Amino acid sequence: MLENQTILVTGVTGQVAFPVAAELAKRNRVLALGRYGREGDRKRVAALGAEPVVGDLAAGEFGEVPDRLDYVLHFAVAKSGDDDFDGDLAMNAEGAGLLMQHCRKAKAFLHCSTTGVYRAKSEGRIDEASPLADHHRHMLSTYSICKIAAEAVVRTTARQLELPTTIARLAVPYGSAGGWPWFHLMMMKGGVPIPIHPSGPNYFPLLHEDDYVSHIEALLGLASVPATIVNWAGSEDTSVEEWCRYLSELTGLEPRFEASETALEPLLLDTSRLQSQVGPSKVHWKEGIRGLVAARNPELLKG
Ligand SMILES: NC(=O)c1ccc[n+]([C@@H]2O[C@H](COP(=O)([O-])OP(=O)(O)OC[C@H]3O[C@@H](n4cnc5c(N)ncnc54)[C@H](OP(=O)(O)O)[C@@H]3O)[C@@H](O)[C@H]2O)c1
Repeated sequence: MLENQTILVTGVTGQVAFPVAAELAKRNRVLALGRYGREGDRKRVAALGAEPVVGDLAAGEFGEVPDRLDYVLHFAVAKSGDDDFDGDLAMNAEGAGLLMQHCRKAKAFLHCSTTGVYRAKSEGRIDEASPLADHHRHMLSTYSICKIAAEAVVRTTARQLELPTTIARLAVPYGSAGGWPWFHLMMMKGGVPIPIHPSGPNYFPLLHEDDYVSHIEALLGLASVPATIVNWAGSEDTSVEEWCRYLSELTGLEPRFEASETALEPLLLDTSRLQSQVGPSKVHWKEGIRGLVAARNPELLKG
C-alpha cells in the first residue's frame, strides 16, 4: 500500500483523478496540480486532504511543485472539441514531456492514456500491440491524435531521462464521479437519442472507480524504461446497449438508440496483461451502475 509518499497528481478537478487523489491523500502527501480557474475547485480538492498547487501544463508552469517527489500520476487532459490542435498538442503532448522533465527524480511516472488511441477491429480483441488510429475523430476531433502524440512524447522522455514509466490506456471509467454511463442516463432522462455504431454490440469495457483506484500501486510497479504500455479496463465485456438497458431496469427510463456511422466504434479489449499483474476487476458492472445512480441521481431509482 502506498504510504507516507509524496505524490503529484494532475487532473484532480476532473472525473478520473478525483477519487484517486481522495484515496491516496488518506495515507500520503498528495499535491494536486491544476489551473483552479473554476470557483470551488480549490476547496473541493483541499477537502480531500490534498494540497492544491496552481500550475499550467500547456505553459510548462509548475508553481510550487518540488522536484523531489516519490511518484507522479498524470491524468490532466485537454480535449477542446473545437479543432484546436495547436493548443491541445501543447497541453497533452508538450505538457507531458515538460512535466516529466520537472519530475525526473521521481521513482515512477504513471501516464493515463486512453483506449481511444486504437483502431477498431471487426474481429478479435485489441491488445497493446494493436494498430492505432483517430478513433474519436467524430466526437472529439483532437482527442485521439493528441493522446497518441502524448504517448510518443512520454515514451521518448522516459528513455531520455531514464524515468520508469507506465502508460495505462484507460477504457470507460465510471462511478460516483460520473462517466459515460451517467451521460447516457442523462440522455435517457432528457429523451435524447443515444448514438450507437451499426457494427454493434457496442462493446466498451467499464472500469469502476473502486477498481481503478486500487490498481494505482500495481501500475506504478509496472513502470519501466522503455515505458510499459497496458490496457486499463474491467475484465467484463460490457456494451452500451447492455448498460443502458440495465439503467432502464433501474429507473424505468427508456433508451432511444440511434444507429450512426459517426458513433464511436466498439472496442473489444484484451486485458490479459493487466489481469496478470493486478487480477480481475472486483466490482461487477451491474453493482457499479446501480451505485452510480444511487450516488448521483437517487431520485431516479424505481421503488
Ligand atoms: N473520462 C473518461 O471517460 C476517460 C476515458 C478514457 C481515458 N480517460 C483519460 O483519463 C484522464 C482523465 O480524464 P478526465 O475525463 O478525468 O478529464 P476531465 O474531467 O476533462 O478533466 C481534465 C483535467 O485536466 C486538467 N487540465 C486541463 N488543462 C490543464 C492545463 N493546461 N494545466 C493543468 N491541468 C489541466 C483540468 O484541471 P483544471 O481545469 O483545474 O486546470 C482537469 O482536472 C485523461 O488522461 C483522459 O484521457 C478518460
